[in-house]
Amino acid sequence: MTTAAKLPPGPRLPRAVQGLLALTDRRIALQMVRRRYGSAFTLDLPIFGQLVVLSDPSHIRQLFRAPPDGAETTDTNLGRVMGPNSMFALTGDRHRAQRKLLTPSFNGRRLAAYETIIEREATDEFSTWPQDQTFPAMPSMMRITLNVILRAVFGAEGQELERLREVLPPGIKLGSMLSLVPVPQWDWGRWSPWGRFFGYRREYDTIVDRLIEKARADPGLGARDDMLALMLQSRYEDDSPMTRDEIADELITMLAAGHETTATSLAWAVERLQRHPQLLDRLVADLDAGSEELLNATVFEVLRCRPVIDTTFRQVKAPTLEIGPWTFPEGQTLVASIGLLHADESVFPDAGRFDPDRFISRRPDPAEWIPYGGGVRRCIGAAFATMEMRVVLRTLLRDYAIRPSKTRDEGWKSRSVALAPSRGALVRVRRR
Ligand code: HEM
Repeated sequence: MTTAAKLPPGPRLPRAVQGLLALTDRRIALQMVRRRYGSAFTLDLPIFGQLVVLSDPSHIRQLFRAPPDGAETTDTNLGRVMGPNSMFALTGDRHRAQRKLLTPSFNGRRLAAYETIIEREATDEFSTWPQDQTFPAMPSMMRITLNVILRAVFGAEGQELERLREVLPPGIKLGSMLSLVPVPQWDWGRWSPWGRFFGYRREYDTIVDRLIEKARADPGLGARDDMLALMLQSRYEDDSPMTRDEIADELITMLAAGHETTATSLAWAVERLQRHPQLLDRLVADLDAGSEELLNATVFEVLRCRPVIDTTFRQVKAPTLEIGPWTFPEGQTLVASIGLLHADESVFPDAGRFDPDRFISRRPDPAEWIPYGGGVRRCIGAAFATMEMRVVLRTLLRDYAIRPSKTRDEGWKSRSVALAPSRGALVRVRRR
């Protein structure tokens, strides 16, 4: 560490003790440290080492605004499982070029085309729901968001759709666990975790090759809206096309980043709404009258009070990086705490209350509302996810009356990618 470094204060407990506290309940532990040391503090944790947590909107904004040669993502280890061309693995100019190429997939015209796919998937899934029985909504939300990504992003139908539905969820679950450990230097055989993972990947690659082959032979390719079709037709600034490996790595990246996160946010929406019957009645009346104002506000509020990704990491790349009164040295890990910022009473008064009205006639301030992170690494699928939540909830409330619940709030449980409701968002419904 350079002598110029100036870090915020933090607990002096030994690393192992801090690690144990973080393991008991990360969210509560962070709240406690924040209360004691203020909005920025330094932690020392096993595996992560020394890291600085930021939760003041102005400090997080400075971090997000830092150029890639000032601070970069630390998520690049996800590239080990998603492939070296995954957006998570790329940094600097290659990352910028890739985002430029893929951003048009999420423009207004394409999003409108995806709405039809989403509504159909949601209607089909909800038609299987039992009436007047309590069941968890989470598995249904996982199926809807998986099918939506396979259709809207992969452009998959028929046999390929079926096979991807079987191979991808267990492959991604295993991959997200393996992303935490290095790829072994020797071969442990096909039944070892890495052996099984590479098996899934081989099968995935074969299916993607078939999808690419079919798309290239499709005379209607130019009129298709799915992301694979866009990738095949797009060109970098030097006019070169995306390679087959780039396409395969980016498709799986979109699935890994967008499937469970969106499903979990939808499950939280169901968990929250049934515990706020008056709001639920207003929401249904509003939708029946053809207005989506309260629905939009509800989606924003779910993402505020139940952020499924509650932290995002950066590492200092410049010799030093100044944020607020601190000077961080090269290599320092910085954490933008989405969870702490969204729970900050000085930013969101009565922050513990689920209150969509705070976003009525007032769009979220991008410096304060950051469920999708920020800066050049901000979630590329943010508009897609927000729209998907809106369409799925609209369809649900059109077809079903959700029974109010008096049971206590569900806790937070860490799944493979996201923080989910601990009982899977238990719900009771009746057809309208
Ligand atoms: C409610 C659902 C979602 C949430 C809460 C969410 C949240 C996030 C967050 C917090 C990040 C990190 C941002 C940062 O470090 O500043 C991220 C990155 C990313 N997300 Fe999402 N996401 C969601 C849905 C999606 C969807 C639907 C897709 C794609 C179809 C997607 C694709 C990505 C990708 C590719 C990245 C990496 C971006 C980069 O490194 O440049 N996400 N997301």
